[in-house]
Amino acid sequence: MSLEVAPSSLLIDVLREQCQLTGSHQGCDTAQCGACTVLVNDKAIKSCNRLALQCADQTVLTIEGVAPNEQALHVMQQCFSQHHALQCGFCTPGFVMRALAMVHEDVPATPEAVRDALSGNLCRCTGYEGIVEAICEALALLRLER
Ligand code: FES
Ligand code: FES
Repeated sequence: MSLEVAPSSLLIDVLREQCQLTGSHQGCDTAQCGACTVLVNDKAIKSCNRLALQCADQTVLTIEGVAPNEQALHVMQQCFSQHHALQCGFCTPGFVMRALAMVHEDVPATPEAVRDALSGNLCRCTGYEGIVEAICEALALLRLER
């Protein structure tokens, strides 16, 4: 996709307003909550803290591109659903994207390692038990697939 963006445009604003990709949420706008997390070249970044121009010619993946098709969920999404790892869902896209980056980072599928890797994502509803369980299971399943 080719876009013209203002030099000062943040990636989150370009995604939400120019691309109509509203799955990445704005919770704090100060790089603390992780609701705006997307992958840039497989690395999790907070899109409220990144100029869109910094992502020129790089691969940006948002939650909209995670499921394999409209009828199926990604393994990570399935595990979030099975472990009841969401309530209002506001934080969930950011958690899923952060969790997908853990696959590339080879984060161990243990609660301790996953909790540590989630230190930049906040959820105001669920507590973190289901989220951590979901990510551990998905990491284990995705590693088996590799
Ligand atoms: S909106 Fe980006 S970290 Fe909260
Ligand atoms: S599910 Fe509501 S903020 Fe996380």
